[in-house]
Amino acid sequence: MFKVREFSNRLVDDWLKVWGDQAARFPEFLAPVTRQVMETQILGNFLFDPAGLLIAYEDDEPIGVIHAAFGPNADGTDLSHQVGILYPPVIRSDIAVRRGEVARALIEAAENYLRGRGSRRWYAGGYGNSSPFYTGLYGWTNPVGVCDEDTETIEILRQMGYRDDRVSRRFRMVWPPSRVSITPKIQEASNHVTISRFARQSEPSWWESNIYRNFESEEWNVFFRDGLNDDPIAGAVFRQMTRTCSPRGEIEQKESRFILDYIAVVETRLRRGIASLLLIFALADLERTYGRFTVDTVVGTDDAPLASFLRANGFLEVGTVSSFRKVVS
Ligand SMILES: CC(C)(COP(=O)(O)OP(=O)(O)OC[C@H]1O[C@@H](n2cnc3c(N)ncnc32)[C@H](O)[C@@H]1OP(=O)(O)O)[C@@H](O)C(=O)NCCC(=O)NCCS
Repeated sequence: MFKVREFSNRLVDDWLKVWGDQAARFPEFLAPVTRQVMETQILGNFLFDPAGLLIAYEDDEPIGVIHAAFGPNADGTDLSHQVGILYPPVIRSDIAVRRGEVARALIEAAENYLRGRGSRRWYAGGYGNSSPFYTGLYGWTNPVGVCDEDTETIEILRQMGYRDDRVSRRFRMVWPPSRVSITPKIQEASNHVTISRFARQSEPSWWESNIYRNFESEEWNVFFRDGLNDDPIAGAVFRQMTRTCSPRGEIEQKESRFILDYIAVVETRLRRGIASLLLIFALADLERTYGRFTVDTVVGTDDAPLASFLRANGFLEVGTVSSFRKVVS
């Protein structure tokens, strides 16, 4: 028989044990989390409420965890108890009891927590950048979610009344590639523009500054050569967790990881090689500091141009990440 307990600080090792087991099972999807990462990314976040982090035990052995929390209001200035987030249940693979049974019990306990705080709209697997914790730890990208290999969780969520909400495609590349292809278009674009690197310029919302508090962000902007004082015609933002969150941690020792958070070109300048030039320039710039690294990003299933652009520039599609929705009365 198993039971579900609320988190307290003395249970950190139990949480790490469960996460570590699952991270070994889905190494391309769950980041290895050290105690330091857990402390800075989750427990040290002022939105953290121990009552929302639940651990399942069989006797005294931790066998599964789930985390429930709340998303932001519409303009990102405060929490909204209307938006309940259930992170996917994480369950050890080597347990005697049925994993499905543990997953259900954890999901129900998380729902009870959310209901008790007044939430009636639940997003399982997270809700894009509205998820307050774990940014960069699932799929090594921004959105939290259920990975496509975790068919068991997807099935259970559907059986428990969750509807499919969003599917995002995960793309990844390792830089530097064996060969960078500079097409004539890219060459031509480079004759007309200047690219500048900034520490992130735009003012983040309260919510954004919270979810990215352990990240460093770098932004590159493209300007016409003779229009340096004008608005940029393209921009890209990369984020990295490792240096601030885990200076000596396991993640950094393994390799540097970046999230490509954003890349866009103004509508009047599309298909002229500008985004490709920007991407290659930014990656070569990062290479000077980090050497070899991995870049992860996600694309909504409705954004064919971005997916095609990523493929043309050496990214590979490595899977999907899904979220699910349930509204209760
Ligand atoms: C995706 C995007 C960045 C591409 O910018 P771009 O400067 O037009 O891209 P490039 O000219 O460098 O394209 C390089 C290659 O990518 C592919 N590609 C780019 N746009 C494409 C499209 N609309 N359809 C199909 N393939 C496309 C092509 O293979 C292209 O090579 P080609 O033009 O020689 O065929 C641009 O369409 C954009 O800004 N979209 C909006 C993205 C967005 O919403 N960003 C915010 C969230 S991240």
